[in-house]
Amino acid sequence: MTKENLKICCIGAGYVGGPTCAVIAYKCPTVTVTIVDLNEDRIAAWNSDNLPIYEPGLDDVVFACRGRNLFFSSEVDQAIQEADLIFVSVNTPTKKSGIGAGFAADLAYVESATRRIAQVATSSKIVIEKSTVPCRTAESMRAILEANSRDGIRFDILSNPEFLAEGTAIPDLMYPDRVLIGSLQTPEGIKAQNVLADVYANWVPKEKIITMGLWSSELSKLAANALLAQRISSINALSAICEATGADVDEVAYACGLDSRIGPKFLKASVGFGGSCFQKDILNLVYLSESLHLPEVAEYWKQVVTMNEYQKSRFLERIVKRLFNTLTNKNLAVFGFAFKKNTGDTRESAAITLVKHFIQEKANIHIYDPKVEDAQIEMDLCEPGIATPEQYKKSVTIFHDPYEAAKNADAIVVLTEWDEFKTLDYQRVYNNMHKPAFIFDGRLFLDTKKLQNIGFQVEVIGRQV
Ligand code: UDX
Ligand code: ADP
Repeated sequence: MTKENLKICCIGAGYVGGPTCAVIAYKCPTVTVTIVDLNEDRIAAWNSDNLPIYEPGLDDVVFACRGRNLFFSSEVDQAIQEADLIFVSVNTPTKKSGIGAGFAADLAYVESATRRIAQVATSSKIVIEKSTVPCRTAESMRAILEANSRDGIRFDILSNPEFLAEGTAIPDLMYPDRVLIGSLQTPEGIKAQNVLADVYANWVPKEKIITMGLWSSELSKLAANALLAQRISSINALSAICEATGADVDEVAYACGLDSRIGPKFLKASVGFGGSCFQKDILNLVYLSESLHLPEVAEYWKQVVTMNEYQKSRFLERIVKRLFNTLTNKNLAVFGFAFKKNTGDTRESAAITLVKHFIQEKANIHIYDPKVEDAQIEMDLCEPGIATPEQYKKSVTIFHDPYEAAKNADAIVVLTEWDEFKTLDYQRVYNNMHKPAFIFDGRLFLDTKKLQNIGFQVEVIGRQV
């Protein structure tokens, strides 16, 4: 393989594999990138005008190179055979049953993708672990590949964790803080590391491409997410103190963030963090710590998730209390269902937990989100343990217009910080609501004074109003 005619295959056309490998194709016109997935509908969507993922800037990147050096296909075996480098970007959900249920990552998809590579490869490959995985997954991948390798075929394993955040994936990929590549520190491992480093060097400054051992690289991914989530849980814990004392959590965060040792980012209090990574990665870390017989370490990290759950239940209790201790038959407009703005992703969204409780409290729930698909909302809320399809039908209505969602509502509960919620005509919203009209700002981003002047009863996380 030469630098010019390198062929890359990405297994898994999801939130990670899709944008990451599309940007590689965009930045490396001489490299051929084929993204494959078993899910044919998903591949069809990637080949259509309506991409399966909403991500600002993604359309431009895909449309610029699709059909040129970027291809989406469900011919997994062929793409594996042709590739020099294979990214494994399949899903790794938290296990729902068996050993480690609720904590450990389910590696069945990683294993099956790895076995497929071993089975069909007819030449040597560099296999890159891209999915978020527990420490030492690369070791299992290596064992499977080595046990199945045939004469003259060599597999080198790299860990190349993804640090993109949804909603800003394209800028995160174009201008990363760092690119991390882990490998076995053998001459072959380092050679493989250099091949991947050369791909990134097409657009990432050399000093930002960091190489290290496999285990450090795998643990760094879990550690980075755990540290970020820990900051949010820390500020959320402080938000409870603020509500009880009259301090303002935004002011506290501002004051603390000016200390250059602390810094201002990831100190925004909220109804709780969501997303596919934070909780999963922390639970992985907890599981790892327990397996290593480090119970105090496990307990320490577990507390970050406990605090996140507490934040959601505290907000729920505040809503019930302010609505005269009952939600029965009240109309609640839920603004935002995605786990953060600028994404249609709902994985671990605080909205799922909140709406589950609203259903249990027998409220009528009107949901509006600018990007989340109706079918996704229904799927999330009809999961076992959330609501039955009958309860869902009885309690939940989806709207495509925020004014309609808020019509005849007793309260608006803002759960995602979509920009458009800041600029709604709240006088118009207010006029069509039941009185007293409440707004619960779970993102601390609306203009409280303005809303109060209109007549709203406003409740904000981390602040007495
Ligand atoms: C995260 C990491 O940021 C990224 O590096 C990693 O690769 C994947 O996991 P993501 O989950 O996409 O990315 O979004 P992020 O911006 O980190 O937000 C996660 C959650 O935390 C969201 O629910 C967000 O609303 C919440 N959050 C974030 C806060 O509540 N307060 C903050 O200050 C920041
Ligand atoms: P992530 O957020 O980690 O990218 P997603 O669930 O969005 O996770 O995407 C993972 C994708 O991987 C899914 O589209 C799934 O169909 C695909 N996938 C899982 N296992 C395999 C496999 N063995 N071969 C090909 N694709 C796979």
